[in-house]
Amino acid sequence: MRITDFALERYFARWEFAARHLLCASDVQGYPMADLLALADDEARGMWEGLQLGYTESTGHPLLRREIASLYDSIEPDDVLTFAGAEEAVFCLVNVLVGSGDHVIVTWPGYQSLYEIARTAGADVTLHELHEHDGWALDLDRLRGQVTAATRLIVVNLPHNPTGMLPDRATYDGLVEIAAEAGAHLLVDEVYRGLEFAEADRLPAGADALPLGVSLGVMSKAYAMAGLRIGWLATRDRDLLARVAAFKDYTTICSSAPSEILSIIALRARDQVLARSRAIVAANMDLLDAFFDDWADRFEWVRPRAGSIGFPRLTVPGVRIDDWAAALVETEGVLLLPGSQFGHPGNHFRIGFGRTDLPEALGRLETYAERTLR
Ligand SMILES: Cc1ncc(COP(=O)(O)O)c(C=O)c1O
Repeated sequence: MRITDFALERYFARWEFAARHLLCASDVQGYPMADLLALADDEARGMWEGLQLGYTESTGHPLLRREIASLYDSIEPDDVLTFAGAEEAVFCLVNVLVGSGDHVIVTWPGYQSLYEIARTAGADVTLHELHEHDGWALDLDRLRGQVTAATRLIVVNLPHNPTGMLPDRATYDGLVEIAAEAGAHLLVDEVYRGLEFAEADRLPAGADALPLGVSLGVMSKAYAMAGLRIGWLATRDRDLLARVAAFKDYTTICSSAPSEILSIIALRARDQVLARSRAIVAANMDLLDAFFDDWADRFEWVRPRAGSIGFPRLTVPGVRIDDWAAALVETEGVLLLPGSQFGHPGNHFRIGFGRTDLPEALGRLETYAERTLR
């Protein structure tokens, strides 16, 4: 198998541990291990202290699958399969679901593996392009027109990376209807679920919305525990899940034993864990609102409705975001992610607001903007 480089991950491989401030990270500030262990109930503490570091069950620890299932309305533990992060889940699922002769529709710009793996598997991929001028919204009429008799899979990422877009309920219901009419699987990448700015805006999970719906979840983003590398798929399509489980025998086989226990602790204490993440994001959004207000004549900003990232555009004529961001990280140690890393031609960049150093990072960016954009 030959696959195109994952541009964003290559960019992070260069900068993530070299730049002082990651003002484009998509995760929330990592949860301190000691604080997490302090949240453990008696049963989980016992499992942690008595843990033997052998292989684990390939489908995932039964208690972990039970906690994950409880995040959904219609999902049983047997409808859940765990992975090493969301990334492995996408890799296994898409390889099992599609190949040559199949058609896949994927929202774009977006997380590259959501369409690149399908292309590499030989599927015909149509990108459903989102646009700044209509708030990066899904266009249901256009989407309906993109469906063909060969469409096997529709992939959306809600809340969306990189724009922070979240459809309203009517649009989401329309999307579900299109997938159901097409008889296609609907993969809803929900790794930012739980970070809706208004809880009432949270959408039904893909796994609950339709029988061929598949929810993709992970500990990395809303739960602030990317280092655990625990992700999952949830779906009522057990036949599909069994085929994906068989594929996973060729990747990681089973999850990391310590990470499973830590994930059980975190999911049992999810109200506290999510409250911390939402508080970090809300405080940072206040600062970003003020910044983009002050700089409205230099940056276009579609305010996200959820998640920990957004996709503003530098509007100063003659200033390319790739050059501006390269000089910013060299002089101020602040990393942005230019839209070119998504293959996006506009002058956009991804900004992340899940990290606790955002006040300092934004201050440095503003100093640099005063020097270079006024
Ligand atoms: C939309 C989306 N899906 C999947 C992933 C993969 O998550 P993980 O790195 O935890 O495997 C990411 C990570 O940035 C993402 O943004």
